Amino acid sequence: MKIKAAVLNEIKTPYAIEELNLSEIREDEVLVKMVASGICHSDDVVRTGDSPYMFPVVLGHEGSGIIEKVGASVRGFKPGDHVVLSYKYCGHCDNCLTGVPASCEDWAALNMSGIREDGTPYFQREDGSVVHNFFAQSSFSTYSIVYERNLTKVDLSADLRLVGPLGCGFLTGSGTVRNGLKPEPGSTVAVFGTGAVGLAAMMAAKISGCTKIIGVDIHDHRLETAKELGATHTINSKGIDVVAEIRKLTGGKGVNYTVDTTGVPQVIRASIEALAIGGTAAPVAASKPIELNTINDLTMFNRTIKGVLMGNAVPQLSIPQLIEFFQAGSFSFDKLVKFYKFEEINEAANDSLSGKTIKPVMIIDESYVPGK
Ligand SMILES: NC(=O)c1ccc[n+]([C@@H]2O[C@H](COP(=O)([O-])OP(=O)(O)OC[C@H]3O[C@@H](n4cnc5c(N)ncnc54)[C@H](O)[C@@H]3O)[C@@H](O)[C@H]2O)c1
Ligand SMILES: [Zn+2]
Ligand SMILES: [Zn+2]
Repeated sequence: MKIKAAVLNEIKTPYAIEELNLSEIREDEVLVKMVASGICHSDDVVRTGDSPYMFPVVLGHEGSGIIEKVGASVRGFKPGDHVVLSYKYCGHCDNCLTGVPASCEDWAALNMSGIREDGTPYFQREDGSVVHNFFAQSSFSTYSIVYERNLTKVDLSADLRLVGPLGCGFLTGSGTVRNGLKPEPGSTVAVFGTGAVGLAAMMAAKISGCTKIIGVDIHDHRLETAKELGATHTINSKGIDVVAEIRKLTGGKGVNYTVDTTGVPQVIRASIEALAIGGTAAPVAASKPIELNTINDLTMFNRTIKGVLMGNAVPQLSIPQLIEFFQAGSFSFDKLVKFYKFEEINEAANDSLSGKTIKPVMIIDESYVPGK
């Protein structure tokens, strides 16, 4: 079928909306009509060239939409279902079976191959050339082909224009705290970088009962938003010793948990040094290597550094919970979202990169009416 998608032909070029051919679905596949898609920094880093990928490509991995058609062997979904798209996992490796699909042994192959496992493409140009898929999702498109395990069914009451980023950025931030760090009520946390991922982490820290939630950023407007969403303290770290400031706020002890979302090597170091004895740091952003003296920086203080991919979340469990937290007023991610038209994708992507917009979301189907 003919669809419209935003194609990225090579790094550092604008997106171009083109008509492409989308393959027929196979028996285990699902055709989704996209309503909206968020833009995540993991899309940006492919466009800037910081994360190598295959071109041309249809990016996007924070899609939300309505199921148009399902293959013969699909059991859990039917046409008309409202869905949020997230990462794909195999469902039968050891890690999937023990409930940690973010550690799926086939994660990279399933999400980053650009074509089907049997070598056939999803998207093609009129001349037959391949346009690659991204994150088993390619949500910068009017329609896309996905799998049951990419999909989380959401209630009709969820506004599909808003909920796409619950499939990556907000899932990552909240899950890093809720599933990765698991702070005890009464513990303290500092979040470095108060963008989409960091603010979701702070809201989750509040939900978890942390008593000190310290937001660190270099932009005052970001810190204002952090205060609105649950930060008990904020620090503009430009030109100051942020570790000393955090110690001052915690009676000299440091914090029990930190999350780094900046990817800046010195900031990652600070997020380790700001830990109390026995504390845990979760660096989640793309980063260059950092220097560490394992005995002095970690072992002597019984500290841990923990990698947490996609918030270690099972999307099908966490996304409906996040919607419930949102509806209860404790996960107000809508305050971070700004809507754009699909044709404004380059403006939306540039606003994401420059930091002007925390979470740009493009409305792909303008005819969608929330609640219907
Ligand atoms: N691990 C995962 O599974 C996963 C999933 C999604 C996104 N990510 C990554 O998470 C990172 C954060 O994503 P985001 O959407 O929140 O980005 P963002 O740009 O919205 O947020 C980053 C924040 O860091 C702040 N910052 C930059 N330099 C700083 C410094 N030196 N000191 C203090 N603050 C500084 C910025 O002002 C900004 O507010 C990205 O690298 C993204 O690729 C990881
Ligand atoms: Zn698996
Ligand atoms: Zn992402």
